[in-house]
Amino acid sequence: MKIAVIGSGYVGLVAGACLAENGNDVVCIDKDPAKIRMLQRGKIPIYEPGLEEMVRRNKIEKRLTFTTALARGVQQSQIIFIAVGTPTGEDGSADLQHVLSVARDLAKAMNGYKVIVNKSTVPVGTAAKVRDVVRRETTHPFSVVSNPEFLKQGAAIDDFMKPDRVVVGAEDPRATELMKELYAPFTRTGAPIMLMDCASAELCKYAANAMLATRISFMNEVANVCEAVGANVDQVRHAVAADRRIGASFLFPGVGYGGSCFPKDVKAMMRFAEEQKYDFQILKAVEHVNEGQKRRLIVKMEKHFGTLKGKRIAVWGLAFKPRTDDMREAPAVPLIHGLIAEGAVVHAYDPEAMQVAQKIFGSKVQFADTSYSALTGADALAIVTEWNEFREPDYGRMRKLMRSPVIFDGRNIYNPQQVRALGFTYWSMGRP
Ligand SMILES: NC(=O)c1ccc[n+]([C@@H]2O[C@H](COP(=O)([O-])OP(=O)(O)OC[C@H]3O[C@@H](n4cnc5c(N)ncnc54)[C@H](O)[C@@H]3O)[C@@H](O)[C@H]2O)c1
Repeated sequence: MKIAVIGSGYVGLVAGACLAENGNDVVCIDKDPAKIRMLQRGKIPIYEPGLEEMVRRNKIEKRLTFTTALARGVQQSQIIFIAVGTPTGEDGSADLQHVLSVARDLAKAMNGYKVIVNKSTVPVGTAAKVRDVVRRETTHPFSVVSNPEFLKQGAAIDDFMKPDRVVVGAEDPRATELMKELYAPFTRTGAPIMLMDCASAELCKYAANAMLATRISFMNEVANVCEAVGANVDQVRHAVAADRRIGASFLFPGVGYGGSCFPKDVKAMMRFAEEQKYDFQILKAVEHVNEGQKRRLIVKMEKHFGTLKGKRIAVWGLAFKPRTDDMREAPAVPLIHGLIAEGAVVHAYDPEAMQVAQKIFGSKVQFADTSYSALTGADALAIVTEWNEFREPDYGRMRKLMRSPVIFDGRNIYNPQQVRALGFTYWSMGRP
């Protein structure tokens, strides 16, 4: 099939590459010429495991091309995905300006029947808005489909190639059939294509992200209670997770959720509920708990040191989660700003997010070439992102490098007894 994907970010690029991998002809479109030039050279502007190889392979086979020329991309395609950003607007709602401007531009370029697929995360009613915008600009026939994306950064290719489900909101049988055909190779192993109306499809994505954020905030509160009463959250978590009605995923306490999706989608869901005079009380608490959680490591450090003035703190992990370089809403950002505000000196390391971090912090933070060099002369280490390479470190080397062997583990990656036996003072989340 002939496909255009407008917006070549985390979602658009992964979707484009995976659709090409299954034999489709895909043109990825972006308004950012530097990004497109890079992609045309076979380089990818983000870190996502396996993506560069997949992009290169499909580019060589000429199934995957890149352009800034939206009109040409639209004209040569039957199915057009919109995968541009929907950031938080001033009032907390999803800002639809990119989605609607793309809808307008693609409508002006249309030269026949097109299926316009909204893959961006958008509030209920956006399919109808896109339909109105397109109808105003063209006399050609078209259908609008809602197809929210559930991939996880860090495992995006796997998630797209082997999804748990594919949600398709469509009100037109012709578009539904094309979507079923397009997704057939991805759902052969049994993952269902769920067909529904556009409003329900749009809501699915927010409900799923809100549920995941709720589990994280809930478990963070359980961990905080564990600290207050002297219980161990690891034991509690295992026992709770053994209940099949609950399950084990997304029950890890930590320094709060971040990333480009959970914070903005929780906000947007509260906002569009409020617009309909519904007060989504649980989500208010989820957000409030998350804000407090991001300060929790600093509170522990203050308990330990008294003042942080002049303390040299090594930070391991800057990306909002492992296997990505994305720092949007990463908990490391408020943590580091907080440390600097308290007078601490921060030495930071991340396997992939250093360039992004340099743009955020500039000279306020010293960036280390390796995880160990960040530890030189450190009064403490704060672990913020649970990259695999931090899990089994050389503790002897760490102790030698650090001025004082203190670890604040925001992700509970170490065994408390083991690290204490090795001479470290060890603070973690919800564990004695
Ligand atoms: N990142 C994720 O893990 C994820 C997962 C599921 C859904 N989503 C949703 O998918 C959407 C895209 O997210 P993302 O993380 O890929 O964003 P992103 O910021 O990485 O990428 C968006 C891209 O769209 C381009 N763009 C913006 N306006 C454009 C225009 N008028 N014409 C052409 N290109 C334009 C930007 O230059 C950018 O490259 C959002 O709604 C997000 O909520 C994201």
